[in-house]
Amino acid sequence: MDRIFIHGGRPLRGTVKIGGSKNSALPILAATLLTRGKCTISRVPDLSDIHYMLTILSTLGCEVERASGIVRVCAQKICTQALYDTVRKMRASICIIGPLLGREGEATVSLPGGCVIGDRPIDLHLRGFEKLGTAIRMQGGNIKALAPRLKGNTIFLRGKHGSTVLGTDNVMMAAALADGITVIEGAAEEPEVVDLASFLVKMGACIEGAGTSRIVIEGVKELYGAEHEIIPDRIEAGTFLVAAAICGEGVTVQHVAPQHLQSVTETLRKTGLRIEIGTNSITLHKRGKSQPLKVDAKPHPGFPTDMQAQMCALLSTTEGLSTVTDHIFPRRFMHLAELKRMGANIELEGATATIRGVPILGAAPVMASDLRASAALILAGLQAEGITEVHRVYHIDRGYERIDEKFNGLGAHIERVKTSSLR
Ligand code: EPZ
Repeated sequence: MDRIFIHGGRPLRGTVKIGGSKNSALPILAATLLTRGKCTISRVPDLSDIHYMLTILSTLGCEVERASGIVRVCAQKICTQALYDTVRKMRASICIIGPLLGREGEATVSLPGGCVIGDRPIDLHLRGFEKLGTAIRMQGGNIKALAPRLKGNTIFLRGKHGSTVLGTDNVMMAAALADGITVIEGAAEEPEVVDLASFLVKMGACIEGAGTSRIVIEGVKELYGAEHEIIPDRIEAGTFLVAAAICGEGVTVQHVAPQHLQSVTETLRKTGLRIEIGTNSITLHKRGKSQPLKVDAKPHPGFPTDMQAQMCALLSTTEGLSTVTDHIFPRRFMHLAELKRMGANIELEGATATIRGVPILGAAPVMASDLRASAALILAGLQAEGITEVHRVYHIDRGYERIDEKFNGLGAHIERVKTSSLR
């Protein structure tokens, strides 16, 4: 397991190119199961979560080729079982059930494991499948789903924490090959759902309303191979923008879709930062005196929960009293204990962190716990006095491609060390 050492206090300046979206690529790769044709997906980021998904597709019988950012998949002949050892590493593997049901009428997939960001139920996914005529039963830790013929229906897909992104994806993929019309009420509106819908339409699906809370899918008999370029990763872009807010002196994120980041740029503007929006770039100028904030992480178009930890790092050294509430994952605060080890003054009450800004954080050895918490620790290390050592960096490699190299390209000093070489 690698560690990274962040030499704090260095200003960031320059331009960083943002990669393709992990959270768009994962369901789109799963969607290639819906056709016997050849699919070519470009701008696929080089991440361990993507590697897991490609392994799952290969295990199911797909021919998978990867050449740098381009992935070719052909699901000519597939099996419908993905058991524990294959899927246990990544919750997002749940989004193969919808395509397997649509294509083969059955799926046996291991129940996703636990997750440090909180409870990750799949009741809404299963409700959606059942409404399409699927018989679901649990056996030996596996979900066994059987649907000789999927039938379109109207499905309300919202839980107590709002809509479900992968649940919307899963139902949309199954409904694409169902008999008749499916209406998803309370659908997730995230840009990644829109990207999946546009790929499915290229495959021959009839889908309207993606990006709104009501998606209408008219089932077709067959779907065909297609080509698609993944949208930019708005969370990677947002992470670099928050880093620029912390210690930037003119940072531009390039190859982005600014319209996907509106809630993030508006929130950063509220702290008093000057932000210039280009066609596919965003520039954030040197941080003046920041204002404290009240941040509420909500379903899109609200502030993204995947940016909540990064905001906690920024607000830790923003003078005054700020609050950060996560309405999606109320327990997604593993990063707070580590930020407090670096001197942050944060109290957690239920799903709300109250942060009293301190002048500066101090370096300390810290432990990454999940993908976005690790990003927050790197942002904290960039501004801390001294050298911050982050353990379990594999968490960050799940969702950020070469993040240390990209930050060093902006003037940071981050060293990645293989633990085998450490005493
Ligand atoms: C997607 O997860 C993202 N992952 C997550 O990003 C992101 O945090 C999340 O959406 C919310 O935006 C991918 O796209 C691969 P949900 P997903 O279903 O779809 C509850 C990252 O860091 N819920 O939208 O699994 C759930 O507990 C990852 O990149 C149910 O109650 O999340 C949560 O409170 C982390 N029942 C809320 O809904 C269900 O059946 C939203 O979860 C499903 C979800």
